[in-house]
Amino acid sequence: MSTPDRGHWRIERDAEQIIWLWADKADASANVLSSEVLQELDGHLATIRSEAPRGLVVLSAKKSGFVAGADIKEFTRIQGEDSGYRLIHAGQAVLDRLAALPFPTVAALHGFALGGGLELALACRYRVAVGDERLTLGLPEVQLGIHPGFGGTVRSVQLIGVKAAMRLLLTGKPVRAEEALRLGLVDRLVAAENLHAEARRLILHPPRPHRAPLTERMLSWAPIRPWVQPSLTAQVASKVRREHYPAPFAIIDLWSRFGARGPAAFEAEARSIARLFVSETARGLIRVFLLQDRLKALAGKSATPLQQVHVIGAGVMGGDIAAWAALRGCRVSLQDSDATRIPPALARAREWFQSRLREPDKVAAAVQRLSADPEGLALAEADVVIEAIVEDLQAKRTLLQQIEPRVKPDALLATNTSSIDIGALGAGLKRPERLVGLHFFNPVAQMPLVEIVAAPASSEPAVRTASAFARTLDKLPLPCRSVPGFVVNRVLMPYLQEAMHAAAEGVPFERIDAAAVAFGMPMGPVELADVVGLDVAAHVGAIVAQGLGRPVPDLEPLRARIAAGQLGRKSGAGFYPWQDGKAIKAPVSGTAPEDLTDRLILILLNECAACLREQIAADADLIDAAVIFGTGFAPFRGGPFAYARARGVNAVVERLQALAQRHGERFEPDVGWALLASGAAASRPPRTSLEQPVKS
Ligand code: NAI
Repeated sequence: MSTPDRGHWRIERDAEQIIWLWADKADASANVLSSEVLQELDGHLATIRSEAPRGLVVLSAKKSGFVAGADIKEFTRIQGEDSGYRLIHAGQAVLDRLAALPFPTVAALHGFALGGGLELALACRYRVAVGDERLTLGLPEVQLGIHPGFGGTVRSVQLIGVKAAMRLLLTGKPVRAEEALRLGLVDRLVAAENLHAEARRLILHPPRPHRAPLTERMLSWAPIRPWVQPSLTAQVASKVRREHYPAPFAIIDLWSRFGARGPAAFEAEARSIARLFVSETARGLIRVFLLQDRLKALAGKSATPLQQVHVIGAGVMGGDIAAWAALRGCRVSLQDSDATRIPPALARAREWFQSRLREPDKVAAAVQRLSADPEGLALAEADVVIEAIVEDLQAKRTLLQQIEPRVKPDALLATNTSSIDIGALGAGLKRPERLVGLHFFNPVAQMPLVEIVAAPASSEPAVRTASAFARTLDKLPLPCRSVPGFVVNRVLMPYLQEAMHAAAEGVPFERIDAAAVAFGMPMGPVELADVVGLDVAAHVGAIVAQGLGRPVPDLEPLRARIAAGQLGRKSGAGFYPWQDGKAIKAPVSGTAPEDLTDRLILILLNECAACLREQIAADADLIDAAVIFGTGFAPFRGGPFAYARARGVNAVVERLQALAQRHGERFEPDVGWALLASGAAASRPPRTSLEQPVKS
């Protein structure tokens, strides 16, 4: 069935009989290959073929780049393997027609060409690209639990050889200009103003198309493949488990069966991705991708500039927040009552700039942007002031009261407290409405989430500015209410405490961690406690428990270590000995108690249900996002609630009841589950432009 042409493509014909086909998706700032876009492309290709021009140049009319990939939202509508296959097969057929055109075809690239976008370029005979720092070429599908489906698993190997193609396909990591040229992924790199001229030259004087070198092609020969395949599989297996992440194994499997040759390879690619589409992993990872987009979209525009940042407290967090803000282009001043704390923070920042920015002038510029300010002289100019001093209510309150008269009237006042109520901190201020929690996680450079914590008094503009600032720093803002532990620490605490209960019963630490990792957590709860610091974990645990009116846990293994000064990684020993930043673990032996994984995971899920009931964040999806991006919760499971839905909410509740009978009332199912079961709390429409949670 043909739909009316919406004008996603534009055709120009020049005097030299070259056709210029511009991708320009209607109503979008970036091109994506939706079914509609592909269908229109198909129509144009039929016309172009019949015109028999000298050649065809495919290029993008968008400033942002070439083509960002397939339309991921379409993937969420795939109901079964058959519909997934039809979608992919149709797309493959369009690119096959492009690849089969009997005259030279050139993809003229700038900015990004990712996923389906790169597959489109691979279906052309030549690729020329603007070789600047924005050029980003990649096949990131594996990060969504799938693999390329428009011929990318086949054409990438043919063009650049199995080793280089597998690196693109299996890691999903993009390559930049110089590497793309070295690999042969592009034929030419040019300056922006020469892109069209070079594309034209390739059409008028077509060289022999690039192919992978013979030594690389030999690796794909049938007798050789069985020798290569085990090492590829071993590399992937050392990083991920097949049952959690089947896609990279499927990529290797496709290559080892067909050697990236012939129609059967394309057909198998389509069948394989159709199977992956309906896997729990792809559904989970696609959900994570869309949740990330949602968090990004939450950040409204700030009414004020957010360029000048003042951080008070040059410790672990303050120092890293200051460095990160400077790295992201803000001018930052760093204050501490103990002036000796500032130089080490600046030195740490400099090392970091060097490793991240590499080019000396960029490093120098970042160093320039970050300055010591022991007296707080820059306070009066700051657009954003972040308090990151010791976790002590009185100290923070006094400081905030002292600085309030000195900051600009429209500056954002923020605190990085991890456990103190924002309302209590703002109580002594003349204008408490401007105070918001900006809860960064440790390590700042690695953790994508920032909880934007609102007290009842916090104003909407202040919350909006805080979210916008999080985006300025390329972090994901998660608006939530100020309750003990906010969302992330609140749900982590029962998980860590359950690990302590199990350990007190005699289950070895390694066994506990192995159970969590087997579920898909990035590290087990025992190791996590060591990383956080046992004193910090105990302190936050106590504050959360007190705040919720629960008994303060006094868990034996934890108490004993803290008393002995074994505080975790930072002191060289905690539950584990630590060496060179790594926990030394004994091999796991014996069998785990049958309910160990459920004890750890379901108690965390139960706390998520409590957060939902208390509306700490606006809906179930945002709680899932908080837990994924704030703790690394098994991304392929799509978040705690997605996991609960996949397992069946009633089944989860029944299991919690059984655990409560066996292990105690801490497992008693929260009434919040009823909200989820009824669907009432899932994915509600936004309440305000910022999805501010309802104030209690
Ligand atoms: P830290 O102990 O490493 O650093 C605190 C710094 O504040 C010290 O350099 C101290 O000299 C300075 N300071 C104390 N009182 C001051 C005052 N009145 N004026 C100026 N400077 C003062 O502490 P850390 O770990 O960086 O924590 C800071 C804040 O971040 C706390 O509120 C903590 O709860 C929060 N946080 C900590 C995380 C962590 O993993 N360490 C994670 C997330 C939040």
